[in-house]
This record gives sequence, C-alpha cells and structure tokens, in this order.
Amino acid sequence: MEHLDILISEEEIKKRVKELGKQITQDYRGKELCLICVLKGGVMFMVDLAKEIDLLLEMDFMAVSSYGNEKTSSGVVKIIKDLDEPIEGKHVLIVEDIIDSGRTLSYLVKILNDRKPASLRICTLLDKPEKRVTDVRVDYVGFTIEDKFVLGYGLDYMQKYRNIPYIAVLKDE
Ligand code: IMP
Ligand code: MG
Repeated sequence: MEHLDILISEEEIKKRVKELGKQITQDYRGKELCLICVLKGGVMFMVDLAKEIDLLLEMDFMAVSSYGNEKTSSGVVKIIKDLDEPIEGKHVLIVEDIIDSGRTLSYLVKILNDRKPASLRICTLLDKPEKRVTDVRVDYVGFTIEDKFVLGYGLDYMQKYRNIPYIAVLKDE
C-alpha cells in the first residue's frame, strides 16, 4: 500500500518465526506446550509460529483490551474473552503481537499465574522497550523496535491493516 513504509518485510518475519519455533522446540523438548494467543493482534504470529514448533501443543485464545481504538494506552485492561480450557499444570507460552508499556502483559501474567500453570513464559513478535512501565520478563522476542506506531501482520490501526503480511508504519507519522 502506497501510504505505508515497510519496517519488517514478510521474508524477515518468516525467517525469524522459523528461528523462534526452533528455539521453542528445543527449550520444551519432551514436554507438551499450551500456546495462548492474545487476540486479535497475536493471531497471525501464533498461527505461523505454531507451524514451526515440533511439539504436541494446544492452542487457546484470550482477548483483552487495553487500547480502545486510539494509538495511546488507556492503562485499563479488561478481559473480553477468557480461555476455554484450564491451564493448571500445563507449560504455557503467551504469544503476543507487541509489548509496549507492558501493562496488558503484566496483568495477564498475574491472572494466569493464579491458575497454577507448570510454567509460564512470554513470546512476543515485537518489543518496544522505550515506553515500558512494568518489569515484566519477556522470554522470546522476534524484533526489538523503536517507539513508533506499527501495523500489519495482525497489528491494527483502528481495526484495519491486520491482513498486511509485513510490519509497516504510516507514511505521515
Ligand atoms: P501495552 O499494554 O502498552 O504493552 O500494549 C500492548 C497492546 O497494545 C498490544 O498487544 C497491541 O494490541 C497494542 N499496541 C501497542 N503498540 C502498538 C502499535 O505500535 N501498533 C498496534 N498496536 C499496538
Ligand atoms: Mg496484543
């Protein structure tokens, strides 16, 4: 699209997702894994990542909101859709699209830890560490990026652009 600048290409994403899948496969060898997708942004990443993981795994989905339709964080996190299955005793990996302030994630970690998983780790495609306000630990990061508003590959701007196969920024930014 003409009004977008590509930040991370489709090829770069594919390559990195493959690497992450390999790493996760090694790290969890001999175990079963439960991937938790944070909707909607994490969906493209989780689907592609799951195909690169050579383990028995479950996928579950959760929807939370922290942003409304604007570009800035509201700081309010709300569960829109909870998991379908219990996670007690499971090795859980949260799959996120992007971590910005970290508020969404630290809230998720808190409520999921209360459910007593065997382990709980975090995998994010993108990390924007500049605006972090929490000390949440991220185990797997696809790409660390500057503090710019990005879209595509699951990430939206006002609910649009999720279908773009690469990560981009709006040109007039
Ligand atoms: P946090 O709670 O500030 O870490 O925000 C995390 C959520 O905000 C992400 O899961 C995204 O849904 C959204 N978000 C943060 N930065 C961006 C961005 O640059 N583009 C699109 N969505 C974003
Ligand atoms: Mg998200």
